[in-house]
Amino acid sequence: MQSNNYNMASKNFLTIEEVADTLSVTRQTVSKYIREKELNAVRINKNYRIPYKDFENFINRNTTVSDVETIYLKKSRNCLLGYEGRVDENEILNYRVNGAFQENEINHQLRYNKFISGDNFSVLKHLLPNIQEKVDLIYIDPPFGTGQDYVNINNDLAYNDTLVNHEFLEFMRKRLMLLRKCLSDQGSIYLHIDKKLGHYVKIIMDEVFGYNNFINDITRIKCNPKNFARNAYGNYSDMILFYVKNRDLNIFNDIKEPLSEEEVNNFFPKVHSRLGKYTTNPLHAPGITIDGDTGQEWNGLKPPKGRHWRYSREELTRLDMEGLIEWSETGNPRKMVFAKDHKGKKVQDVWEFKDKGLSYVNYPTQKNHDLLKRIILNSSNEGSLVLDCFAGSGGTLLVANRLRRQWIGIDNSLKSLEAIKENFSKAKVKCNYFSFVSFD
Ligand SMILES: C[S@@+](CC[C@H](N)C(=O)[O-])C[C@H]1O[C@@H](n2cnc3c(N)ncnc32)[C@H](O)[C@@H]1O
Repeated sequence: MQSNNYNMASKNFLTIEEVADTLSVTRQTVSKYIREKELNAVRINKNYRIPYKDFENFINRNTTVSDVETIYLKKSRNCLLGYEGRVDENEILNYRVNGAFQENEINHQLRYNKFISGDNFSVLKHLLPNIQEKVDLIYIDPPFGTGQDYVNINNDLAYNDTLVNHEFLEFMRKRLMLLRKCLSDQGSIYLHIDKKLGHYVKIIMDEVFGYNNFINDITRIKCNPKNFARNAYGNYSDMILFYVKNRDLNIFNDIKEPLSEEEVNNFFPKVHSRLGKYTTNPLHAPGITIDGDTGQEWNGLKPPKGRHWRYSREELTRLDMEGLIEWSETGNPRKMVFAKDHKGKKVQDVWEFKDKGLSYVNYPTQKNHDLLKRIILNSSNEGSLVLDCFAGSGGTLLVANRLRRQWIGIDNSLKSLEAIKENFSKAKVKCNYFSFVSFD
């Protein structure tokens, strides 16, 4: 019997079948464990359910570390990333940080809309009692483990990105564990990362948030195509990993994108003098209706063989009266569909949002605000709490504020604080400023 880092997807109860399947035993064996009080079960809606915590304790009492990991990997379809210096999850969550928040500038009386200067692990530890399960959206853009220093246009050091390899991965894992605690049941997290590290971070996010809660790996086109002399393809994209706390419960507003001019011209090649660009679609669809209205003759026409009218005959007459049916020279009717009524297109997982060059912004690696707008509009609602604990120039907070979300920003760079103050003052954003003071 040993301690372990067993961490299955966030689930409160398991069915008897799930337990049997995970342990590779029969349902009867699980029932025997319950009867003999080795395993606790509760009755929910006439069925027995095993509280997840009790199942975890049962596993801990009866298995070794390697058994637990095998079960974990089988059940969750996860891989665990092995590297030097991995700390046990319980140790991370129970670690105590001594310190307190210091008020530096109070500009409003709202609960959130604040920026806290300090190391985000310590700050999150101290914020957690207030924001646990309250955050609907987290966007983070951490340093990418490049080993470089990042300077602003005046050559002042904004931050250094010195943690590399396994140290970077463990740095991120610890913060992700705390961030998971912050997410509400309908919450989402978007993590911006480059492609050198992103695939390792994906495995860590699978561990922390659950493989099943992975939603998208978004390819973000970040700059113009590169034409360098290296023996390689130009790399003009990075990645955004999108996970949720609970698949199917997450806020997703599915905001459609308008068609481009080229798409409008391709899809709607004809022009109506009053209603603008349009195309035509058949009025019939495959399949026959034997007795129904849509299989009957309309305007002297039967639907073609093996097909039926898409609309009732009454609706067809209404469309025709309103001039919304186009008749070909051979007497074939088609429905007119107008570009102005198009609902927009579903957003896919390749996004083009190029960042501005250093000479146009007051902080290095500042991310495109339209990119943030898309994320915030889709994965939060008005009034939602949005968190960015690698806030940099404060773009996430600024856009969240404009979209009437509540927000919290954290960063440990003095230049970040300066950039945020300048950007908020220009945009007239009211923010309360704090810093975290460590007692250690
Ligand atoms: C890539 S930049 C973020 C840029 C930001 N997305 C923007 O649009 O301006 C990463 C930020 O993480 C901050 N950072 C790095 N380690 C941190 C830590 N341990 N605690 C708080 N902030 C940290 C850096 O100071 C830097 O501002």
